[in-house]
Amino acid sequence: MRIPIVAANWKMHKTVAEAEAYFRKLLALVPKSPGVELVVFPSATALHVAARELEGSPIAWGAQNAHPEPQGAFTGEVSVVQITDLGASYLICGHSERRHIFGEDDAFVAAKVKAALKAGLIPILCVGETLEQREGGQAWTVVERQLSAALSGIELPTPEKLVIAYEPVWAIGTGVPARPQDAQEMAAQIRNWLGDRFGELGKQVRIQYGGSVKPENAQDFLALPDIDGALVGGASLDPEKFWTIAQAALG
Ligand code: 13P
Repeated sequence: MRIPIVAANWKMHKTVAEAEAYFRKLLALVPKSPGVELVVFPSATALHVAARELEGSPIAWGAQNAHPEPQGAFTGEVSVVQITDLGASYLICGHSERRHIFGEDDAFVAAKVKAALKAGLIPILCVGETLEQREGGQAWTVVERQLSAALSGIELPTPEKLVIAYEPVWAIGTGVPARPQDAQEMAAQIRNWLGDRFGELGKQVRIQYGGSVKPENAQDFLALPDIDGALVGGASLDPEKFWTIAQAALG
């Protein structure tokens, strides 16, 4: 049984006071047993606010980024160990903004996934093709390369220890989501691949769709057979919209 997982990626938004207000609003909306797993990814400066405000609540939280080395001379970086120390449960790995704006390659993403698992964090591994790659018929080739690189040498003790987010690059922040049938087709291919790679257990790994998800279209994606949740950017900045999207996962 794959429990739906809906996550809020705030990206570079919200001050400490704004984060506090957000969590209080969200906690007032979400019942004790929501029936869907909720995860919030604040900026690094608000992680301690999540730790304090969400303690003992049904809402989990994680970091948008962390360096795979546990410590060292990496000015400006924060390590997976430091994130775990704060109480995080999740880590976004391989987000297209990190791949394309900050030049993170497959090998670095793989190191991050490995370090996250070692530190006890659950990686949300983001994969997805550019528009050019989709139009060139390369979508699956690209996604498969990202999956096999990021998960090479990884063992999966239980399916909950990994989440895959399919986020086509051209759908992120554009207001133009993928067509639901294309998202489903890709999610099914990812699930097959996970089955080949990890066996039966791999087939139970949860797969999210991300890219311009909003309250108006959430149901279109969350009702699809191989999509178990959403990774939401822009629309997740409003706690009411985020909760409305999460509720669409309840069917
Ligand atoms: P948007 O929902 O703003 O398109 O962002 C998606 C995303 O990148 C989530 O990680």
